[in-house]
Amino acid sequence: MEQIKNQWTFKNDNEYYTPEYFVRPLIKHIKKRFEGKKDIIIWCPFDTKDSAYVKVLSAAGFIVKATHIDTGQDFYTYDPDFNFDIIVSNPPFSGKRKTLERVNSYNKPFMLVFGIQYANSGGFVEEMSRCKNLQMIMFKRRVFYMSYANYQILIETGKIQKPTFHSWYICNDVLLKDIFYEDLEEDKKEKIIEEFKYLNGNK
Ligand SMILES: C[S@@+](CC[C@H](N)C(=O)[O-])C[C@H]1O[C@@H](n2cnc3c(N)ncnc32)[C@H](O)[C@@H]1O
Repeated sequence: MEQIKNQWTFKNDNEYYTPEYFVRPLIKHIKKRFEGKKDIIIWCPFDTKDSAYVKVLSAAGFIVKATHIDTGQDFYTYDPDFNFDIIVSNPPFSGKRKTLERVNSYNKPFMLVFGIQYANSGGFVEEMSRCKNLQMIMFKRRVFYMSYANYQILIETGKIQKPTFHSWYICNDVLLKDIFYEDLEEDKKEKIIEEFKYLNGNK
């Protein structure tokens, strides 16, 4: 019962934030993909300046452009007024097919987080088939996403509350081979608390 409740919570709530350890694995792939290019511009369309994508990818030397619905840039209607080489983010949990459809319309490389349960949706799979060069990164462990509820659970019980599903990066035209299988850094409570406070403090 608890698991079902959690699953629905994840499905219906868009405000879950990605930890830095789930962004770091992307750096090497982006660098390889754009080897020799001077300024690599990454568009993070579901992110504010406080997102781990912006923080980690900027620190890695990329130019990061963040847009978000809260700053008036609805991904499904907004057209960026800047050039970009690749789209990278963790999109809202709702409307994944619509997200993939919009991303595909740009015909650019992308790396986006999707819970693997979306492979159960015919519409989503159909949209996946439209990617020019579909690739994915799979991980050995599930990811802890940050939310107020998860933070409360961590503080009150010490438990790192993860979703019931694995997350993959669905990519288009980025990786040197079609499927990568990678390890993830261990979850560290102190680091989660530090990152949550950073996110919360900067809002
Ligand atoms: C799963 S959260 C991830 C946030 C951030 N990308 C991260 O990984 O930490 C998805 C975010 O997309 C935002 N969002 C929802 N609909 C949007 C839209 N139409 N355009 C842009 N952002 C949107 C939500 O408010 C939420 O903050």
